[in-house]
Amino acid sequence: MSLTIALAKGRLQDVTLERLARGGVHVAAAELDSRKLLVSDESGRFDILFVKPADVPVYVEYGVADAGVCGSDVLAESDADVHEPLDLGYGRCRLAVAAPAGADDYSHVATVRVATKYPRISGEYFRHRGVPVEIVVLSGSVELAPITGLAERIVDLVETGRTLAENGLEVTDVIAEVSARLIVNRASYQLKRAEVAGLVDLLTPETES
Ligand code: PRP
Repeated sequence: MSLTIALAKGRLQDVTLERLARGGVHVAAAELDSRKLLVSDESGRFDILFVKPADVPVYVEYGVADAGVCGSDVLAESDADVHEPLDLGYGRCRLAVAAPAGADDYSHVATVRVATKYPRISGEYFRHRGVPVEIVVLSGSVELAPITGLAERIVDLVETGRTLAENGLEVTDVIAEVSARLIVNRASYQLKRAEVAGLVDLLTPETES
């Protein structure tokens, strides 16, 4: 039985495909160079869907994909009902609050305005600290918000810190350490146990005996 995997486009895509290739699962270069969003590996063992990171849990919850690879940030933001994720150990970065370098704390404002792609995590984070917050939801280039006056703070991923630094921002708080996770559709976990176990071995080679 083949297994369908939803794979987050972007930073996790290449390393996940490399791990599969190291395990002998190859997608033809012509397929990868194309703009196809659904490809199969050469053996036909896996079908791979390339989707936006936030859509990975959706494809897995609905069973269109048996399994998915996305960041723990995406899972924390999603309320999808999927099988408990496995930490794949790569794609490490941080989800952080950032502000213009040297900015005052936000005690002088009645409500802190926060721009982010993570409205749920961000809202919870500030509310748990008793800070009145207004969330401005953006889809990308979040670092622009404090520069342009759209928001006082951002909540975003920080990997090398280069994007923050080059836009005059700095981390003020780390909300969570982030890494890639494997999630599995609940029915597929029961019905395709062997295939899922094979995928886990491919993606976490250090766990192989
Ligand atoms: C992510 C994130 C930051 C940047 C962090 O954006 O949202 O902007 O990477 O990486 P760094 O710390 O290594 O600079 P991405 O490239 O995914 O694009 P986006 O702005 O469209 O979300």
